[in-house]
Amino acid sequence: MKSIKQVKNIKGKVVLVRVDFNVPIKDGKIEDPFRIKKALPTIDFLHKKGAKIILITHLGKDGSASLEPVIKSFFKISKYKKSEISFFENVRKFPGEEKNDPTFTRKLASLGDVYVNDAFSVSHRAHASVVGIPKYLPSYAGFQLEAEIKNLSKALNPKHPFLFILGGAKFSTKMPLIKKYLKLADYCFIGGALLNDFLKAKGYEVGKSLIDNSNYGIEKILKNKKLILPVDVVVKSSGKLINKGVTEVLKDEIILDIGSESIKMIEPYIKKSKLILWNGPLGKYEAGGGGATKKVLKFVAKSKAESIIGGGDTVELISEMKMEKDFSFVSTGGGATLDFLANGTLPGIKALENSKK
Ligand code: ADP
Ligand code: 3PG
Ligand code: MG
Repeated sequence: MKSIKQVKNIKGKVVLVRVDFNVPIKDGKIEDPFRIKKALPTIDFLHKKGAKIILITHLGKDGSASLEPVIKSFFKISKYKKSEISFFENVRKFPGEEKNDPTFTRKLASLGDVYVNDAFSVSHRAHASVVGIPKYLPSYAGFQLEAEIKNLSKALNPKHPFLFILGGAKFSTKMPLIKKYLKLADYCFIGGALLNDFLKAKGYEVGKSLIDNSNYGIEKILKNKKLILPVDVVVKSSGKLINKGVTEVLKDEIILDIGSESIKMIEPYIKKSKLILWNGPLGKYEAGGGGATKKVLKFVAKSKAESIIGGGDTVELISEMKMEKDFSFVSTGGGATLDFLANGTLPGIKALENSKK
């Protein structure tokens, strides 16, 4: 894979830069421009070299969203003049994008002379603007894509002791990680809604808590000595929040977070680790202000360990707390980060590696 540092003679050339400006928007306002900020070094580098830049992004799932708020936010943050950088339309508006249709890909590629992928967070999608264009144009990895690969790869070849913290709710996307990191890490701490399935598999009452209920072979995982499960939880009980042991949950209660003893329990593991990888909030943070996740994030921020954090929701919380600089690396990816951590590569990365041009 070639780095944009290797790009030569691009003065006056048109560079198609795939970015991922699929950012959270509420009432027409960008809630968190993290991904936009992270693409600026690549854009600045190409701009200084005299390239004509066309940014390509998707926004939302189906291509119906207007890029207008994103474009506005980009020009506000980057300070470029409108005449200096062009935007392609929301690329998912075109059915050929998700189908990776060759005719659409060729048309897209014909707009530029050079292609740069700086959209790690969508590089798990085999779409035209991600995997198609490198077949037709000289193609390079942008700085953020390189930084993601470099930093996330540390978890694949880890320093020890290595602590893996996994939370969140999307069981099917996270289960491959549990299996893999029970091998790679020294300790795996499980929180979030994922925990509920583990507690249920242990035979404990989980009341009306969110559970997945699919059969992921949790019984076998429960025997693994590296697995660390919280000892207490915060439940919602008749409208009140109560901290109680994991064996004490009642039928009409809902587990919302890990409890105070569990927060204390994880601290020494954080202290003794050299590498910490974290994905997914430990509780339903939207409901209770972040509770355990915020407290444990602060422990991690204080520790000497190299800390690598990913996950759309987790990173949103970090942005809200203005703590991005307190960790060694905060990934821009959601699904892409999980796939990279599980497989060590992504379709968009392979496409750059295989680019013949
Ligand atoms: P990330 O985006 O960081 O990878 P996920 O998308 O997997 O994380 O999960 C985040 C979601 O998990 C949040 O909406 C959060 O409210 C939810 N969640 C965490 N713990 C619980 C819980 N105990 N019950 C219900 N939802 C939970
Ligand atoms: C993301 O937000 O994870 C990326 O932009 C990819 O979006 P997608 O899940 O709609 O492909
Ligand atoms: Mg999420």
